[in-house]
Amino acid sequence: MTDHVSGHSGVDHYLRAGYTSVRGMSSRFAAAISAWCLTHQAANGIKGHFAEIGTFQGRYFIAQALALEADERALGIDLFDWPSPATYDIFIDNCRRWGVAEDRMVVWKADSTAMSADALRGRLGSGDVRFFHIDGDHSPGPLRRDLDLALAVMHPKGLICLDDMLHPGYPFLVTTVERWLIDNPSMRLMCVIDREDIVAAPKFLICHIDAVPLYENELMRHFARYHFVLGGDALGHFCVVLTPNPRIAEVD
Ligand SMILES: C[S@@+](CC[C@H](N)C(=O)[O-])C[C@H]1O[C@@H](n2cnc3c(N)ncnc32)[C@H](O)[C@@H]1O
Repeated sequence: MTDHVSGHSGVDHYLRAGYTSVRGMSSRFAAAISAWCLTHQAANGIKGHFAEIGTFQGRYFIAQALALEADERALGIDLFDWPSPATYDIFIDNCRRWGVAEDRMVVWKADSTAMSADALRGRLGSGDVRFFHIDGDHSPGPLRRDLDLALAVMHPKGLICLDDMLHPGYPFLVTTVERWLIDNPSMRLMCVIDREDIVAAPKFLICHIDAVPLYENELMRHFARYHFVLGGDALGHFCVVLTPNPRIAEVD
């Protein structure tokens, strides 16, 4: 297995020993890069919580919860009814097994598209969300509502991470993100994290324009072996592209 690491010892132990034993869809590659972003934020004095819409059985959630600092919380939001209500108990068991402290977790069994920002903040207590993973309902209206919710609770230098962008199963979902970025011109697609395969699909990292310099050079430097040096053309600016096997198409 390729050794994708975050640089955080507790997270990397879980990525190596536990990640694939927890059922889920996010790639280990993306989970490692996301957890690195959380430790990079902490090293730069950014405090706040982690939130995820679409926690499922906890595969990606556990990695990010383990990367948090002592007084921060991980909020898991899901309907917890797919494929059966047992998903809730499996999620709690997985978090316990892999060392997510109970006082660090907030679990919210609810429909994210019906939530207000105030209600979400109420679940977390004081502080903003510094990393928000959106992996719930993959249809245009709900994705747009989830993006608005994430933005309303975000730390000014925080990251919104979107799953299943450019996934062949959702070929036009990215157009919702394009429209949202055009309507929110202070937000930028900062990085594309490429797929491992059709299940472990690409993610987008989005942040405020002013926060781009905080991340982009360090992502390219820290993950140099995964850096696709041509980058991505993202609505008129370049974004970082990280891929498990970077290469340029051969032209005879
Ligand atoms: C693809 S799974 C998430 C996988 C998980 N993030 C991982 O990395 O393994 C999608 C999840 O989103 C949840 N979901 C779908 N629509 C939702 C909604 N409106 N509110 C909350 N959760 C939702 C589903 O119950 C399901 O567990």
